[in-house]
Amino acid sequence: MSQPVRAVPSPEALPSKAVTADLTTLLGQLSRLGLDFAAESLPALLTRAVKEDLGPPTLLEHLLRGELERREERRVRTSLRLSGLPSGQTLANFDFAFQPAVERSKLEALATGVWLREKQGLLILGPPGVGKTHLAVALGVKAVECGFSVVVYCLNKMLHAMRKDAEVPPTRLRGKKYMKAALVIIDEVGFEMFTRQEANLFFRLVSYRYQRGSLCITSNKAIQDWPEMLAGDEVITAAILDRLLHSCHVLNIRGRSYRLRDLEDSLKGRS
Ligand SMILES: Nc1ncnc2c1ncn2[C@@H]1O[C@H](COP(=O)(O)OP(=O)(O)OP(=O)(O)O)[C@@H](O)[C@H]1O
Ligand SMILES: [Mg+2]
Repeated sequence: MSQPVRAVPSPEALPSKAVTADLTTLLGQLSRLGLDFAAESLPALLTRAVKEDLGPPTLLEHLLRGELERREERRVRTSLRLSGLPSGQTLANFDFAFQPAVERSKLEALATGVWLREKQGLLILGPPGVGKTHLAVALGVKAVECGFSVVVYCLNKMLHAMRKDAEVPPTRLRGKKYMKAALVIIDEVGFEMFTRQEANLFFRLVSYRYQRGSLCITSNKAIQDWPEMLAGDEVITAAILDRLLHSCHVLNIRGRSYRLRDLEDSLKGRS
């Protein structure tokens, strides 16, 4: 049986105490509810509402929108701090003209976060200075803004953490942030060789995260050089690559080093 629609009482019908709510009480209630921005901005907003003749729904909408925006800013700030992502490397300050091997449209598609929802991987390959770390960080920031949990490690730190957790049972391992974050970025893969134990730990990570969460790996080593990098273990390398490359975006950046651009330009000028 449908419920009868209850009529909204007109302001006249409300007890006068409710209509002329005391501002101090109201601010106290907003604060107790944790609506700090609303509490801070209500007095100014009430003045504005009188000046601009804003109705109660508009007033409330301004109040709540401001509160939500403030909360979102706080969430992004906290998540960025926890992720370990450095600041200053964004898609906005990536010079696409300098690096034509990087397609802007591809990066913009990745920035939407769809690949993270699909738990796909991302491999960024290329020689030194071409912007691998910059792009991984920039996409990490975008992922945080889209609401995903992100954590970034350089390989050394990742291996250190995994070695420390080598004996941790699987049930507890699931709680580690490199296992449970929606996006784990591993930077600088290829600078050092893995030991056999490290190759096995890396396999454990890739295997656990396969289809559970996204991995973004940057490397200066081409795929064919991975067996040598992974302690010469062809079997474990094949198992790792099979999982990594299944449903994975690959950015192969063949281009100039951004670090050396000034040097190259000055050498060109001299010749
Ligand atoms: N196309 C670009 N536009 C703007 N800045 C760039 C670009 N490419 C690289 N940079 C900057 O150049 C520096 C080196 O780039 P980055 O660290 O991303 O290189 P990399 O490919 O990770 O190198 P490595 O293999 O040595 O780690 C960084 O400060 C980065 O912000
Ligand atoms: Mg780098």
